[in-house]
Amino acid sequence: MKLVPLLSATAVALSALPALAAEDAELREEAQFYFEAIPTEISVIKQTEDQPEGVPLTSEKIELGRWLFFDPRMSSSGLISCQTCHNVGLGGVDGLAVSIGHGWQSGPRNSPTMLNAIFNAAQFWDGRAADLAEQAKGPVQASVEMSNTPDAVVETLNSMPEYVEAFQTAFPGDNDPVNFDNFAEAIEQFEATLITPNSKFDLFLNGDDDAMSEQEKRGLQAFMETGCTACHYGVNFGGQDYHPFGVIARPGAEVLPAGDRGRFEVTQTVDDEYVFRASPLRNIALTAPYFHSGVVWDLKEAVQIMSSSQLGTELSDEQVDDIVAFLHTLTGDQPEVVHPILPMRRDETPLPAPM
Ligand code: HEC
Ligand code: HEC
Repeated sequence: MKLVPLLSATAVALSALPALAAEDAELREEAQFYFEAIPTEISVIKQTEDQPEGVPLTSEKIELGRWLFFDPRMSSSGLISCQTCHNVGLGGVDGLAVSIGHGWQSGPRNSPTMLNAIFNAAQFWDGRAADLAEQAKGPVQASVEMSNTPDAVVETLNSMPEYVEAFQTAFPGDNDPVNFDNFAEAIEQFEATLITPNSKFDLFLNGDDDAMSEQEKRGLQAFMETGCTACHYGVNFGGQDYHPFGVIARPGAEVLPAGDRGRFEVTQTVDDEYVFRASPLRNIALTAPYFHSGVVWDLKEAVQIMSSSQLGTELSDEQVDDIVAFLHTLTGDQPEVVHPILPMRRDETPLPAPM
């Protein structure tokens, strides 16, 4: 019988709460169903059911990965590093429509950010790399990116004793630690530290009602209500699965060029034509231009294209503005990365090849 007065006391207290706080609590609860906050730190990656303990990050691998990420000598020209196209000072992108690499060639696609990429289920616009280590081997060899070979990378690394020592320290117990797999693993570990916690949205999700403005909250509501969450969900607001670009209406060729058929190139299945990974939307305000083609510079226009092509709805101007305001709350603390002082070249170090 004691329970009854207790319950009614709670009911009174709840109804006495300001209406707004109750609305915030409801909005938060709904958001928690779709999204997760970015942790402030991670110490383990690649946790799976088979490998619940995952792979621990080590400061030695992270440090080596930082060198490799910034070292242009990993490219055949000696000019291009990961940082060239994934600038840690620019939200992890190059800010170009499509990336420019070896020999000033334009690549086929816009450079996505590597910030928070550790939370994606697969890498690239078409998801063709399973994880960041597999991913890191791609650009080094791509003729339009760094245009190098694994053997040449290993030769360059072996020519500088500081690198050899750093690999030995990072991979103790490995008889031949300077190899391409370890190169990729070190970069993966460094990239895993490039996360952006404490965005306004995450603060709201974690309980701070005042972290977001009324307009931003309306945008969050609209993002969930109109169905953006069917594809953009989870800790990264995307990066989890694949969808046709143009579920309802295929965008025009200027946004979706016919030559890039997305996942079709990976699976050779007709159903995968023009299918792309639902883009992660963390830090989206910093990563213009948008879409794999990189032709849309205005976030508002990108949201309008999404609503007509993916949802078949015409959002009102006000709704689009609200959603854009909300998307701005996904900008988190940017990682402060110190540019490494890199090992000095030696006589044995291969010379840069002409582009
Ligand atoms: C010439 C520019 C260029 C260089 C150099 C480059 N990248 Fe990229 N990167 C891109 C482009 C473009 C894509 C998207 C390619 C695609 O989806 O087909 C990409 C994709 C990625 C992704 C996937 C992110 C995601 O959300 O799917 C990661 C991670 C990444 N690069 C890391 C690296 C690392 C590490 C290096 C250095 C070893 C590097 N990149 C060098 C242009 C570049
Ligand atoms: C059916 C799945 C689906 C739905 C629903 C959807 N999207 Fe997308 N979204 C995608 C895919 C796939 C891409 C990548 C398109 C490409 O290849 O460039 C994308 C890309 C984006 C981009 C560009 C990301 C970048 O880095 O360039 C933004 C912004 C975006 N979506 C916002 C939204 C908003 C806002 C909504 C709701 C109005 C929404 N999306 C609904 C699947 C979806």
